[in-house]
Amino acid sequence: MKPRILAFAGSSRTGSFNRQLAAVAAEHGRTMGADVTLVDLRDFPMPIYDGDDEATNGLPEAAIRFRALLGEHQAFLVASPEHNGSVTALLKNVLDWASRPADGLDGLTLFRGKTVGLVAASPGPFGGVRSVAHLRGILSKMGAHVLADEVLVAGAQHAFDESGRLTNALSEKLTVQLMTQLVASARRSDAP
Ligand SMILES: Cc1cc2nc3c(=O)[nH]c(=O)nc-3n(C[C@H](O)[C@H](O)[C@H](O)COP(=O)(O)O)c2cc1C
Repeated sequence: MKPRILAFAGSSRTGSFNRQLAAVAAEHGRTMGADVTLVDLRDFPMPIYDGDDEATNGLPEAAIRFRALLGEHQAFLVASPEHNGSVTALLKNVLDWASRPADGLDGLTLFRGKTVGLVAASPGPFGGVRSVAHLRGILSKMGAHVLADEVLVAGAQHAFDESGRLTNALSEKLTVQLMTQLVASARRSDAP
């Protein structure tokens, strides 16, 4: 059976550089024989996490759908934009809701032991390095195995051609290397 990878970006912006980077990585994963599902977090609208809201209404419908997707994939590829030196509120909120218990499952079951590859793109000179560092800590705390390698794309407004391909050969090479590791890890995974 093909290894299954869920890919998403922490941005809902039309034309998001991080979504473009996730799409490049997803395509490489498919070329390597993986089944890669690329989703847009815009399609998973969730209110800001509120414990009272959860106690009264349970998880939002979008969080339940997102949790189901997490459960159906053996590895994740996350493209993480940088907002004020950290992950976006959108991404953190989705992770917070997804980590809540539901359907008899401890929320972190969906993350524990899963391998995650991290990439980031920013128009700035540092390529989202602070966002990726924070996300590494967050996902590790949630029990995921985050690959040591990562891809950072600085100057993102010039990083993609009209077909959405990376223009920089080194960024392209690093993305291929990361996806090679992620696909291999998903293949080895004993997650159902
Ligand atoms: C509130 C806010 C804070 C930002 N802070 C940073 C930052 O700390 N570092 C950085 O490199 N870019 C920062 N940016 C610029 C984003 O990297 C840029 O908007 C990028 O395009 C977002 O990713 P996206 O293209 O995937 O939506 C910030 C943008 C916003 C809106």
